[in-house]
Amino acid sequence: MSPSKTPVTELSGNGKLVYGCDYNPEQWDSGVWQEDVRLMKTAGVNLVAVNIFGWAELEPSPGKYSFERLDEILELLHANGIGVNLGTGTSSTPAWLTTLHPDILPQSASGTRAWPGGRQAWCPSSPVYREHALRLVDVVSRRYGSHPAVRLWHVSNELGCHNALCYCDVSASAFRRWLVDRYATLDALNEAWGTTFWSQRYSDWQQILPPRVTVSTNNPTQMLDFHRFSSDELLGYYQSETGVLRQHSAVPVTTNFMVTAHIRNQDYWSWAPHVDVIANDHYLDHRLGSPTTELAFAADTTRGLAQGLPWMLMEHSTSAVNWQPRNIAKGPGEMHRNSLAHLARGADGLCFFQWRASVQGSEKFHSAMLPHAGTDSRIWREAVELGGILEKLSEVGGTTVSAEAALVFSWEAWWAYDQESHPSSDVQYLDQLHAAYKALWDAGITVDVVAPGADLSRYKLAVVPGLYIVRDKDAAELSEYVRNGGHAIITFFSGIVDENEKVRAGGYPGAFRELLGIRTEEFFPLPPGKTLALDNGSTASLWTEALRLEGAGAKVSVIEGHLAGTAAVTRNRHGSGDAWYIGTALDPSALRDVVVEAAAGAGVTVLAPPEGLETVVRSGADHSYLFLINHSEEEHKYVVQGHELIVGEDVPGIAVIPPGAVRVVRITNPTP
Ligand code: GAL
Repeated sequence: MSPSKTPVTELSGNGKLVYGCDYNPEQWDSGVWQEDVRLMKTAGVNLVAVNIFGWAELEPSPGKYSFERLDEILELLHANGIGVNLGTGTSSTPAWLTTLHPDILPQSASGTRAWPGGRQAWCPSSPVYREHALRLVDVVSRRYGSHPAVRLWHVSNELGCHNALCYCDVSASAFRRWLVDRYATLDALNEAWGTTFWSQRYSDWQQILPPRVTVSTNNPTQMLDFHRFSSDELLGYYQSETGVLRQHSAVPVTTNFMVTAHIRNQDYWSWAPHVDVIANDHYLDHRLGSPTTELAFAADTTRGLAQGLPWMLMEHSTSAVNWQPRNIAKGPGEMHRNSLAHLARGADGLCFFQWRASVQGSEKFHSAMLPHAGTDSRIWREAVELGGILEKLSEVGGTTVSAEAALVFSWEAWWAYDQESHPSSDVQYLDQLHAAYKALWDAGITVDVVAPGADLSRYKLAVVPGLYIVRDKDAAELSEYVRNGGHAIITFFSGIVDENEKVRAGGYPGAFRELLGIRTEEFFPLPPGKTLALDNGSTASLWTEALRLEGAGAKVSVIEGHLAGTAAVTRNRHGSGDAWYIGTALDPSALRDVVVEAAAGAGVTVLAPPEGLETVVRSGADHSYLFLINHSEEEHKYVVQGHELIVGEDVPGIAVIPPGAVRVVRITNPTP
């Protein structure tokens, strides 16, 4: 367990905000390095991640090392005042290793072994991989553990990006060990997994396998436990690298998380205490309905993992990525808006993948700070400009975001909610969560993202989208919070099962029936495209339910079909607080109205900014900083008094934010 977090600004070398990138000098002749470093200084880069994929270069054959080029790079960066975020280099195995030990390669649920030739092709439970990787970490940390350029250790890379779930026999044994730890007896496991169903009872631990492909559907609790095991397994691997690093180095250690919409295999609530710096990688995902609000959600979640302290954006892109079906390039100013949205939401460091665009390999069409076009390019000019902006925003470093509302998010709920054989495969956890988050974002309500069971006492409102799986204790705490005057919004398919995926019988939404003062007998998911009219003029889609009021009042009801007259949104007085239930997928404006009404009732400040204007405040002891990010093509005005830091002018009463621009207004805090 990491004793305390390292302030991100300490990693810049001058106490300012971190500005940096992944740097892969191994892809270039050393002649290019001098130019790289000169241009890094021009852009204001102060920290670069190197050696992320360095294994084959450092250990070209088993036990034979070659450090000359890395030595030279570290010296060059150091001589130029640029710090190093040093990769342990274990992320991708060299060809000799998988040739010698093909059993390292991970296996899919259908039994296919991955071949080498891509990256991260190793089984998280493989003792052979671990032995070789830790030997490399040992050698690297002995050599560079006290190097003056090294400010941070970067363990592996995005652990679990490609290899989180391995179904091989080695993983099967590790899974069984994990299950013995969790359940101690086979009887307890049989009970938890409900193995009387479909004759699945186990009479020997050896019979238990990872949830490999079957001819039908797998046991849901086995699936859920396999997710839990797989997250723990990679965390264990992270800790084993950290253990080696700590023997030879006092430099802080981290790894880059993937708090993002398309990767969900690590439960970062359990990882977060073990890193010295919370670092995230985030890329705009154009497959989503609203990539910009998803960015904000990911940033708020990362801040939640950092317990509200500043964190570091370890990777994002200057423009297009290369791994989406259509890799949409960022328009002028968009990169600044994205980067500064992360900063607004608590990042004290902004780094890109990567420094110089590759000319070979599968990422050659991925954007970089220095694109193929070179320095005479918009991307390069914007990258240099961003370095200048961060310089002007230095004083924001160390300040924090304070929110009056919390949003409860759980990786475990994500795994469980989206399993097969549920009422509707059109209803997915993240979609519902993003819808709730967007309603808050549109209303200008900043939220802290918290884990189920987190202390909510400092919040006026808790928003709980689709918490399908919930432990008794966490449900009880939410009830207690409302009883004591807190306010909650809970959305459909919440409270349904306990931690073993066992339905709480007696009526839905199980764990939250009493808190919400309702009881649902049956779900009626709607076919795609089908909507039902509601009495507030909006519509219900995807999901409806036969909901009975048991103390709650109806706020919105269905007015057509066999559910006509049934409540779709309810409010229940519970102790001295209100508990709202949203029992359908409302259209966005109706959802925003409900959220705003509940928030206003809870006493939450609703900034209600004009459409497309993102507003977030970071606060320090003497000053607060209002970030105004204009995502729209209209000019916006905002009533505020202070000093604008990017343009550098006083704002006597109204800030003007041109289309696409960002303004950061320093406001003097009132004297207490
Ligand atoms: C990340 C990864 C980087 C690079 C980047 C491209 O997942 O850590 O190495 O591949 O994606 O977007």
